[in-house]
Amino acid sequence: MVKLRSITRFPIYYQGMLSFEKSKELPFPLEEEKVYFYGYGRYALYQGMLSLGLEKGDHILFPNYICNVALAPAHYLGLHVDYYEIDELLKPKWNKIDKRIADKSKAFLIVNYFGFPNDLVKAREFCDKHEQFLIEDNAHGFLSHLDRTPLGTFGDISVFSFHKTVPIFNGSAMVINKHSISMVGDGENNLISEKRTVRFIVKTLILSIRNCLSFLNVNKVADKKIDLNPNIEKEQEFDLQSYFISISNYSKWFLNHLNINSVASRRRKRYFKWLQYFQEQKEYKVRIIFPELKPGIVPYVFPVITNQSEILLDKMRQCGVECYPWPFLPKDSREDYLSGKVVCFPLS
Ligand SMILES: Cc1ncc(COP(=O)(O)O)c(C=O)c1O
Repeated sequence: MVKLRSITRFPIYYQGMLSFEKSKELPFPLEEEKVYFYGYGRYALYQGMLSLGLEKGDHILFPNYICNVALAPAHYLGLHVDYYEIDELLKPKWNKIDKRIADKSKAFLIVNYFGFPNDLVKAREFCDKHEQFLIEDNAHGFLSHLDRTPLGTFGDISVFSFHKTVPIFNGSAMVINKHSISMVGDGENNLISEKRTVRFIVKTLILSIRNCLSFLNVNKVADKKIDLNPNIEKEQEFDLQSYFISISNYSKWFLNHLNINSVASRRRKRYFKWLQYFQEQKEYKVRIIFPELKPGIVPYVFPVITNQSEILLDKMRQCGVECYPWPFLPKDSREDYLSGKVVCFPLS
């Protein structure tokens, strides 16, 4: 039986994660011709929407299972959000989407949930048929692949949120994959202060050491009390302007020195551990959303669906496992099947 141990929600440092020399081959999208770096994925999405020429009053299709922060750029630009449904495997319900297309629909956004490739080929066919831009939200899927093709290469534009996968204070990107689309920049953005970066590094170092010590059975209760109601709208996250931030120099350096094989294999190994844990345990009734981890996939978390999310979250956090519900749904998404039932287990 797999034993539980303390594990933090956020990525931490570990041996072998970095190489001292700049990596010879950087992963997609770091060396792309049309890649633009920012502090946060939501700002990258905003820049992407601007580059697609989306304007106030245009319609955009979002999945109804989405975190409210991903909507912030659409709201900021005055776009009208139409929602499409997804099934229990987190794939779009394709037979219902045609009806969601409006006269003013311009773009279709698909999410590679938790680093797993979504129906990207079908999404491309759908967008070509209906003359929609395809936005690939790959905020969870840095380093992940569909067969041998990196996620983030399928959309007309795509976005990444590197800070979710590796321990950097901030870092995101918007990539333009389609030749005919040009970057439409929107002015200067702020650089994060060195002081905050140093604070972040010290905090992450402490977390990393604590994680290392957990093999001594220092089972510490997870730090923050979790908000068990994922359906509460967090208004402050719609304040997009405070996220108009550049990628920090530390984040850039870190990404350029990353040992990607080590990051990928550690995340995959931890995924298999959770898989084993949930297959063996009898205490909680959970449905594993992705029971298969194909080669090339680099998962963001290990997600399960359960009707016992409160109990599961509470008990796990008492063991020091910083699991959490995802997402904070937007008020108007009308998602009811998954709402409050998805619990994510970290792979840090
Ligand atoms: C699917 C998705 N897209 C975009 C974002 C925004 O990323 P960031 O937090 O870097 O702004 C998130 C954040 O959680 C997300 O889950």
